[in-house]
Amino acid sequence: MDGTGGEAESEPDGKAPGITWITGASSGIGRALAIHLADGGARVALSARSVEDLTATVQHSPDRMRLFPLDVTDRVATTATVAAIERWFGPIDRAVLNAGTHSPMSLEDFSADTARRLMEVNYMGVVHGLEALLPRMRARGCGQVAVVASVAGYRGLPTAAAYGPTKAALINLCESLKPDCDRAGIRLQLVCPGFVDTPLTARNPFPMPDLMPVEDAARQLADEMEGDGFEITFPKRFTRKLKLARCLPYRLYFPLVRKATGT
Ligand SMILES: NC(=O)c1ccc[n+]([C@@H]2O[C@H](COP(=O)([O-])OP(=O)(O)OC[C@H]3O[C@@H](n4cnc5c(N)ncnc54)[C@H](OP(=O)(O)O)[C@@H]3O)[C@@H](O)[C@H]2O)c1
Repeated sequence: MDGTGGEAESEPDGKAPGITWITGASSGIGRALAIHLADGGARVALSARSVEDLTATVQHSPDRMRLFPLDVTDRVATTATVAAIERWFGPIDRAVLNAGTHSPMSLEDFSADTARRLMEVNYMGVVHGLEALLPRMRARGCGQVAVVASVAGYRGLPTAAAYGPTKAALINLCESLKPDCDRAGIRLQLVCPGFVDTPLTARNPFPMPDLMPVEDAARQLADEMEGDGFEITFPKRFTRKLKLARCLPYRLYFPLVRKATGT
C-alpha cells in the first residue's frame, strides 16, 4: 500500500487539512471526480484494485493525489486503508464510496455466484467502508460520506437481477442510517446516477437514454456534495422519470418497463 507509515501532512499553521477518499477511483465516475476535486484544490486519496490505473490517474495531479490500492471486499484491508490514509494525510472529512461493478443477470443465466459477487463488491464494499469511517467521524462529530447507489435500485429492471438488489440495499441502508448520522454531525448522502458514459456502461448492448458524459457527472456530483440534500441524482431528465416510475402500481409499472426496454 502506498502512503503507509507517514506523519499526517500539515498546513503552515500546523493544522492537518482534511482529505477526500474515493473508492473506485481508477476508472469512470470515481476517476473523473478525483480529477475534478484535485483540480479544484482538494487533496484526494484514491482507492481501487488496479495499481496501474490508479497510478495513471495520480499522474494528473501528483501533489494533490495519493493512491491507496484496495479491494473493498476485504474488510480488514479496508479498515487498514482508512487508518493509513488518516495517518498519512490527517482526517478523512469526505468519502465517496463509489466502487462497484455490474454483470447482467436474468432468467436464463440466473446464478447465486453472480448475485453473491455483486453483493460483495457493491454492498459489502460500502459496508466495509462505513464500518471503517463512521466511528472516526462520530468521534470527531463531523464528516461527510456519499454512497454511490443507482436508479437501478429504485425498482426491479430487466437483466438487473444481480445488480439492482445491491443498489436497492444501499438505498435502504442509507435511509436507515441517515437520522443517526444527522445526530452525530455526519452528512450522509445517497448518489443515484442514471446512465453515465463509463467503461461500465460501455458494455451495455442497449441504447441508454440521456447518457451523460462522465466529466459532467463528476462536476454535478461534486456540486451537489457541497449542498445538504440527501439524494444526489443525474442526469435529472432521466432520473426524474425513474422517480415517477417508482410510484406506479405494478399493473402500470410492468407494461411500462416492457415497452421501454422492449422485453
Ligand atoms: N456509469 C453509470 O451509468 C452508473 C449508473 C449508476 C450507478 N453507477 C455506479 O457508479 C459507480 C462507478 O461506476 P462507473 O460507471 O464509474 O464504473 P467503472 O468505470 O467500471 O468504475 C468502477 C470502479 O470501481 C472499482 N472497483 C470494482 N471492483 C472493486 C473492488 N472489489 N474493490 C475496489 N474497487 C473496485 C474499479 O476499479 P478496479 O477494477 O481497479 O478495482 C473502478 O475504479 C458504481 O458503483 C456503479 O454501480 C454507475
